[in-house]
Amino acid sequence: MTALRPDMTTNALRPRMHLTPPAGWMNDPHGVFHIDGRYHLFFQHVPDSLVHATGCHWGHATSPDLLHWEVEPIALSPDGEDGEDVGVWSGCAVIDDQGEPRLFYTSVGPPDVHRGSIRTARPSDAGLATWAKGPVIAEPPGWDVAVFRDPVVFRDGPVWRMLVGQGDTRGVAGVATYRSGDLETWHHDGLLVSRSFGEEPFTGTAWECPQLVRRTDGLDADVLVFSVWSGDPHHVSASAGTYTEGRFIPGAWQQVTLAGSHYAPTHFTDVDGRPCLLFWVRGVGEPGVWAGAISVPYVVSVEAGAVRLTPHPAVAAARRDPVGSEPGTALDIEWSPRSGSRLSLLGPDGLARAELTMSDGVLRVRTAAGGTDVVVDHHGPSLRIVADAQVLEVVADGGLVGLPLTDVDGGLVPATDDPGELSWWHLT
Ligand code: FRU
Repeated sequence: MTALRPDMTTNALRPRMHLTPPAGWMNDPHGVFHIDGRYHLFFQHVPDSLVHATGCHWGHATSPDLLHWEVEPIALSPDGEDGEDVGVWSGCAVIDDQGEPRLFYTSVGPPDVHRGSIRTARPSDAGLATWAKGPVIAEPPGWDVAVFRDPVVFRDGPVWRMLVGQGDTRGVAGVATYRSGDLETWHHDGLLVSRSFGEEPFTGTAWECPQLVRRTDGLDADVLVFSVWSGDPHHVSASAGTYTEGRFIPGAWQQVTLAGSHYAPTHFTDVDGRPCLLFWVRGVGEPGVWAGAISVPYVVSVEAGAVRLTPHPAVAAARRDPVGSEPGTALDIEWSPRSGSRLSLLGPDGLARAELTMSDGVLRVRTAAGGTDVVVDHHGPSLRIVADAQVLEVVADGGLVGLPLTDVDGGLVPATDDPGELSWWHLT
């Protein structure tokens, strides 16, 4: 195993509690499972590039708690221009009936990378370091399917189901469904649900990385979470509705992430049975070294028909009381603002790197990095904020706000006009 962050104590740009690539590009997390006391996570990775490229690999990392990660050897690589996979794109993992993990991934190549095919891989060593690719098990189900990728497989009573994100040539986004008795042979079963480009609220022309969080996970509804794409990635949306036998009846459509940072979440159930999501965090990195990060884990719940996210208890478990007002690189903050209150994240020079203001149920988030302020509803009594080097995550009722922070050398300290509104900790 390679230690992920040999420079962790000295490098102010590298988050401590968020997985980042040792070098190169990272996007979507996927394929989370727990085996022999450790979580395994895979991620889209281009080791020799700081921007996305068709030739993605599956990077691999493991963790005891979803916060402290160690990078493992790359699990899946493209075969090169002449091989079968020019890119190994997003997918999932399941534990099969024999207790062995199996990966499902999107294989892409010419003539059209957007029309992927679905392949599998099985471990070729007991340590899960190397994986052997299997055959193609599904291809775009029609000539009019313009985007096809990102399988998710789950047990559904007597059958296995597979969901694949898609979009058609008319701009109808949706999720293809398949069923199988043995994880090998798959039958196309129509659409889980679909929605047109022109409908309000906007949900794009194709859905990437569809995730189904089912009420069997303890929720009051089944929740479809998907990443809204229309030539470019937009944001994450969700709907709390009802799933039965390969069909989803949606409730209201809801935007889950704001501010262009968090995208492409992957769903998994933690060891205690909680339904969780991990997101790709865009817009962070170190020039010439790495780009992209994975969020802290979030627990999914449904309240009055709306999807809510809460930082996973592993975050609170990593808290350490600050000594006085000692600045920290990784902070967990609970703020209970009155209307008109302001919270600042201050650098050692006393200048704010981010400012949050609350007024009549509306939260405004501004960073020193510039850009427009992010405005989001928040009516709950308190707000949770995680700041870790460049990654700022603000969990409001109206959605998850992710923004990059700049000039974070020397760490940050939270400050409010009324200290009674604030509790905060370092994360270690
Ligand atoms: C989402 C996504 C997926 C795709 C992968 C490629 O960010 O575009 O749909 O499989 O990234 O890296």
